[in-house]
Amino acid sequence: MADLHFLLDARRLKAMAKARGQALQRTLYQALQEAIAQGRLQAGAVLPSSRDLARDLGMGRNGVIHAYEQLAAEGYVQPNRQGTVVAAFAAVSSASTPHSQRAVPSNATVSQRVAGCDRRRTPEDDLRPFMPGMPALDAFPFATWQRLCDKALKQGSTLDLGYRHAVGEPELRQAIATYLRAARGVRCDADQVTVTDGTQHSLELCAHILADVGDTAWIEHPGYGGARTALQQAGLLVVPVTVDADGIAPPEAWWHDKPPRMIYTTPSHQYPLGSVLSLPRRLRLIEQARQCGAWILEDDYDSEFRHEGPPLAAMQGQVDDAPVVYLGTFSKSMFPALRLGFIVWPQALADRALGVVGDLVRRGRPFEQRALAAFIDEGHFTRHLRKMRKLYALRQAALREAISSQWPLPGEVLGGQAGMHLVLSLPASGPHAVLDMALARCAYEQGVSPRPLSMYGTGGIAGFNGLVMGYANTHEDRMAPALGQVVNALSQLKAQRK
Ligand SMILES: Cc1ncc(COP(=O)(O)O)c(C=O)c1O
Repeated sequence: MADLHFLLDARRLKAMAKARGQALQRTLYQALQEAIAQGRLQAGAVLPSSRDLARDLGMGRNGVIHAYEQLAAEGYVQPNRQGTVVAAFAAVSSASTPHSQRAVPSNATVSQRVAGCDRRRTPEDDLRPFMPGMPALDAFPFATWQRLCDKALKQGSTLDLGYRHAVGEPELRQAIATYLRAARGVRCDADQVTVTDGTQHSLELCAHILADVGDTAWIEHPGYGGARTALQQAGLLVVPVTVDADGIAPPEAWWHDKPPRMIYTTPSHQYPLGSVLSLPRRLRLIEQARQCGAWILEDDYDSEFRHEGPPLAAMQGQVDDAPVVYLGTFSKSMFPALRLGFIVWPQALADRALGVVGDLVRRGRPFEQRALAAFIDEGHFTRHLRKMRKLYALRQAALREAISSQWPLPGEVLGGQAGMHLVLSLPASGPHAVLDMALARCAYEQGVSPRPLSMYGTGGIAGFNGLVMGYANTHEDRMAPALGQVVNALSQLKAQRK
């Protein structure tokens, strides 16, 4: 069943209205009508009062009343003593489809599998202060990159214009393997490397190649939503496993009760809480995974940016023949629009994976892959990472300073040993209680984009309350004013409550 908070999220509805070039009132009507018609909002569900919804959406109350009246006139909702209630309704019967939608063919709805998927972030949203996961785009050596891309194009020939190697250009596979052996302690040769369109694509491939529909996948809770989506969409049964200060902590009994086919983890820097998977836990995870025939998917997304202590080696290289599939991305170390990442298969799988990937993937963009190989081979990559490590440490310090001087609530700052974000916990109860979803939504209206920590949870189990605050793409001089915008959002929420 659809989550009303998600369905009626102001940011989402406004983005939809903008994309469709229509009034918010119309978008509100359509979003509710579709959710009811598809059975995603079920009979008896009570819609928010027109006053509350108008306030949440920042629109006039009359607009909400009109949307509700139209839904009532078409039989989707009924006003009663409880408020506006979803009517008992035969979902998606053609007779109940409003005239305005009859021209749409009946097979134009999406599958049940993706019914819950609806992400409409704009590129501009990603550039706002505090957006987690965004590297410092202004500090990327763009001129060098342009030069290497030009050179790769000039040296290309018509032979490069056909379907290219499904597992990636040989130069890039080699450059990745050489870098990973030296910098991350990964045990690999180029023939184990498959170039992908980024980690999201790698996860989809791993789910399809290593598991069958109905198999169990353990994921971290809280954890990376992209992993949850990819594994769920591949038909796996996703089981959330709690994370503590030592990383993913599966209860011992689960190895027998809910044995996994795959385990998704971020051992070098847990996403989003920031813990490091301890050595005893790593060894236990590897040993148990080996015994039950599971694959560990090690997502090493931002470990290049370690700010405290010595660099940590990847889990993949810690023992011989570990059942670990290592996933890396250039989204953080270069830039997200590059859409290049990689999988390092265990040696025993490498040859088989080559054939399967050849069947599943059509790969192109040889010139960008060669430019990236040159960027790595000529030392620009290591130089860029070194500079970004310093810059991110500076920006993190600026954020910490802003929090300690401006933040009015009791709370803890989590993470920060590595990476590009901090987590600021929020009180969930007591006089200062504030819900992260509401605060993040209000902060967005103020022009900044911290993410609610509860968004990283996997439904149904104890929630989290905090803000995930990216600092890498926010200039150090902007940090204090940007945090001021979150403080303003907090004051607004408090004022609304009075
Ligand atoms: C934990 C984690 N892994 C991987 C990625 C990168 O994914 P991609 O390579 O698809 O951009 C992200 C991006 O935010 C992430 O947070």
